[in-house]
Amino acid sequence: MKLLPRTIRARMIAGLLVLLALSCAVLGVATSLAMDRFLLGRIDQQLAGYGAEFAASLEHGEDTRGQARNTFGARLVAGRVTQAAVVSREAALPVQLSSQDKQALAALPVGGPPETVDLSALDDYRVRAVPGRDGDVLITGLSLHGVEEAVARLQLLELSMFTGTLAVAGVAGAVWVRLSLRPLQRIATTARKVSELPLASGEVTLGERVPDTDPRTETGLVGAAFNRMLGHVESALARRHAVEQRLRSFAADASHELRTPLASIRGHAELALRDRGPMSDDVRHALNRIDAESGRMSELVDELLLLVRLDEGRPLAREEVDLTRLAIEATGDARAASPGHLWRLALPEDPVTVTGDPLRLHQVLANLLSNAGVHTPDGTTVTVAVRRLPAGVEVSVSDDGPGIPPGLSEEIFERFARADPGRSRATGGAGLGLAIVRAVMAAHGGSVNMRSRPGRTEFRLLLPG
Ligand SMILES: Nc1ncnc2c1ncn2[C@@H]1O[C@H](COP(=O)(O)OP(=O)(O)O)[C@@H](O)[C@H]1O
Ligand SMILES: [Mg+2]
Repeated sequence: MKLLPRTIRARMIAGLLVLLALSCAVLGVATSLAMDRFLLGRIDQQLAGYGAEFAASLEHGEDTRGQARNTFGARLVAGRVTQAAVVSREAALPVQLSSQDKQALAALPVGGPPETVDLSALDDYRVRAVPGRDGDVLITGLSLHGVEEAVARLQLLELSMFTGTLAVAGVAGAVWVRLSLRPLQRIATTARKVSELPLASGEVTLGERVPDTDPRTETGLVGAAFNRMLGHVESALARRHAVEQRLRSFAADASHELRTPLASIRGHAELALRDRGPMSDDVRHALNRIDAESGRMSELVDELLLLVRLDEGRPLAREEVDLTRLAIEATGDARAASPGHLWRLALPEDPVTVTGDPLRLHQVLANLLSNAGVHTPDGTTVTVAVRRLPAGVEVSVSDDGPGIPPGLSEEIFERFARADPGRSRATGGAGLGLAIVRAVMAAHGGSVNMRSRPGRTEFRLLLPG
């Protein structure tokens, strides 16, 4: 299979050339066979016309008048060749025949049709044996040299003509096939351009269309079908975009609308808790729960709103942010929140700055640090390191806690994804922390990745600049 050419173009040209070569070969064989038979027929006629005069004359002397050059004559007596001669320049020259030649001549059917024999002393000869007058056999032959030469010439001529035809047909065929397949090439080009478009999300316009759509041609049919398919894809993508947009504005509106009543619940709970009047322990406990849970809910709503805004691609603040100071502050907050952990900082001597949104970047670090505090047991060491790399700045948060199960390393960044869904909601949040980290990093043109095994979990942030 490897020998077969791959492209349609190569296959078509190869097929064309093979067919042409086959027809040339058939034509060549047929014409040279026909030519050979025609010339042999003429020689046989000549032989019949000559009769056996020359062979008969061998007995008496050199009567070669009227004989064509190279005419061969021989006489057989009692099945043995007694004389043999060939006409050369008006004279008959005796020929020394080999024993094989003699056998071949002796085996000729007397009075039968002419036959071809290969006389080793001379050329190929067309010979005919006729019975003589006194019981001998007279053989007359005509040289086939001329016939063979004519056929060889014809074959040579045909060979050169066929070679030339094949060469011209190869070149012209290649050009022709290339021209015919051009519409296919254009479809492939359009398909490639479309495949390179980012179709995964957002608003997409598929401007590309195949130019050849003539329904009378095969490629035109393919092109038209392809264009129709592009149209369908385009409208499906537009519909998806509209749905996304609606969903997003719904989430934004819902979170926004929830904020005010939540704030009001919290305010009232606080107010009630501040009341100095008599209050049973149960009521106080219930009010405390309302206060705490509404606080958590507000955080959740704020996180949702932030994610929606990042999805919408709202521009972030672009300021110079000192990452070293950010790391020190965030670690200080984490230390205060989880005093049972060991918090370490690995910072370079000089401050490292990037351009970005300080509030959002602070939130990213706070999320990673609170995870390291909340999802690992007391006594865990957490290290925050800032490094300048050739490609940008790297901030890493690593801990020696139990780690995240393998297989969840990508999933963990999804919304509401938690490594242990059965765990009570009291520890950690709703599973939006890492989704926010990823969205904020993407909005900064950076990235986040995670590597974890039991005993070492590391989140690495990469920021350009
Ligand atoms: N340092 C860590 N060690 C172990 N598990 C972690 C760590 N950081 C994150 N996780 C896991 O990743 C999940 C998702 O984190 P996150 O998106 O911040 O959600 P949340 O903290 O609200 O649960 C967490 O629920 C936790 O199971
Ligand atoms: Mg978290």
